[in-house]
Amino acid sequence: GAPQTRTPTGAETGAPATANGQQGAYLTTAQGARLRDTDHSLKAGPRGPVLLQDHHLREKITHFDHERIPERVVHARGAGAHGVFTAYGTAEAVTRAGFLKKGRETEVFVRFSTVLGSRGSADTVRDTRGFATKFYTDEGTFDLVGNNMPVFFIQDAIKFPDIIHAGKPHPDREIPQAQSAHDTFWDFVSLHTEAQHHTIWNMSDRGIPRSYRTMEGFGVHTFRLVNEAGETVLAKFHWKPKLGVHSLTWEEAQLLGGMDPDFHRRDLYDAIEAGAYPEWELGIQVFPDTPEETFAGIDLLDPTKIVPEELAEVQPIGRLVLNRTPTNFFAETEQVAFHLGHLPPGIDVTNDPLLQGRLFSYVDTQLTRLGGPNFSQIPINRPHAAVNDMLRDGFHQHAVHAGVAPYRPNSLDGGNPFPAGDAEHAFVDVPVTVAQAPKVRANPASFDDHYSQVRLFWLSMSPVEKEHIIRAYTFELGKCYHQAIKERQLQSLANIDPVLCEQVATGLGLPAPQPTVPLADVTPSPALSQVGGEWPSD
Ligand code: HEM
Repeated sequence: GAPQTRTPTGAETGAPATANGQQGAYLTTAQGARLRDTDHSLKAGPRGPVLLQDHHLREKITHFDHERIPERVVHARGAGAHGVFTAYGTAEAVTRAGFLKKGRETEVFVRFSTVLGSRGSADTVRDTRGFATKFYTDEGTFDLVGNNMPVFFIQDAIKFPDIIHAGKPHPDREIPQAQSAHDTFWDFVSLHTEAQHHTIWNMSDRGIPRSYRTMEGFGVHTFRLVNEAGETVLAKFHWKPKLGVHSLTWEEAQLLGGMDPDFHRRDLYDAIEAGAYPEWELGIQVFPDTPEETFAGIDLLDPTKIVPEELAEVQPIGRLVLNRTPTNFFAETEQVAFHLGHLPPGIDVTNDPLLQGRLFSYVDTQLTRLGGPNFSQIPINRPHAAVNDMLRDGFHQHAVHAGVAPYRPNSLDGGNPFPAGDAEHAFVDVPVTVAQAPKVRANPASFDDHYSQVRLFWLSMSPVEKEHIIRAYTFELGKCYHQAIKERQLQSLANIDPVLCEQVATGLGLPAPQPTVPLADVTPSPALSQVGGEWPSD
């Protein structure tokens, strides 16, 4: 059957097809009645009282009273922009996704964010940055919901409320707003040592980016790509900024936090409005899809591990240009709803336990944040592909659905929505084998190594980057009130590198402990350092 449009048309509703643009020669009520005054309430005489029957007064104030919606439970502070993604065609061999075919252009919306601060917090705090991209592909929306760091704090989504509770302001004092300088954060990451890898990225210059335009982005998880022949590979997504990766110094970040807390969003909007369009190249690291789901001994389902670029090259597959700022912050940046389950044919998920939990969490939180199940009808969330679902009714339903049989297939109307021979256009779940194993609450043993890659990161840094990392750990840990927490974190630093541990311990005025695990024998990865690095295509 013909796709049912989700946007009501004039024919369906009898109303004008265009949305309320808040333009026109006359001010009206929400019902379109012309007003002749909006500055005075209706009163019994000039000295009052005010009359309850004043509908315009009540409509105006009631609507205002409900203007705010809950901020995101994480990533509340953000800024977005529109753009276009152009595919090179270099991914055609590994994925059937149509938007990755050579020369294909796809509209996108990107939202950058900090994680921990509230909506009004400062941009330049030390934190992870979100880098979420909505590709409006003609085969359905693809959301790549990533961060500016390639690893995550935890290996299992069941710990997500815990790490966020530990990172958000203390429940009693509501401080700090968006920094790791407090006891609960360091308590968590020193107890749950799988968090040490993400933490060293936070303590590095990556935690204080110069600009959204100079951040890398990472899909973090390993995804499964499937091509026209049904063959699969495992892959990780990377965004590489054309301007290179650059950070603020800590002193710059502190000053900017006071002088211009909107520094990153201003920088993004000013650049786009000046025609200096920010650009990134999208790349993939590709790995064979083996039953072990490992590469070079690295478990690809462990979101606290990277695969160094020296072992698996990042292959460029397309270019993103941000060329338009939002017209309305609330309508676009606030109301956009990303979800890892928004996948086009050719891209599928893996069993990474963090990824699996995320598949549940986003839509669940958006049901509250955006007031019910119909938020995919909000303009910024509308797919650019034709939609013919059988989802009906619910709060804020904007479509006037036609037809008598809201199920498919049926024998009354709607035809056959699964025409024979048309399967190549559909999303097909890759039929991976599911293990025959007892149910357990446990990690694979390969998730137990919490230090090797942290040491790899540390040893890959240039001297100035190491200096900054030492200063960051010393400053942030210096804010803890509890000495036992500082000592426990120093133990983790000893297990990463004795020099790092000694320097931070000296700064804190505490003894440096001995390692409790053998120091890993790792080969540094120059690609991890911000010093150097070139735009791949120039
Ligand atoms: C929001 C990234 C892990 C729950 C976000 C956003 C990003 C992001 C970029 C902001 C989206 C936007 O701009 O609107 C990541 C990455 C993760 C991760 C890269 C790990 C690899 C998790 C986990 C959970 C989770 C494990 C829960 C189990 C949420 C929630 C939101 C969110 C509830 C708010 C969504 C909304 O209100 O629309 N995440 N996240 N995230 N994330 Fe994550």
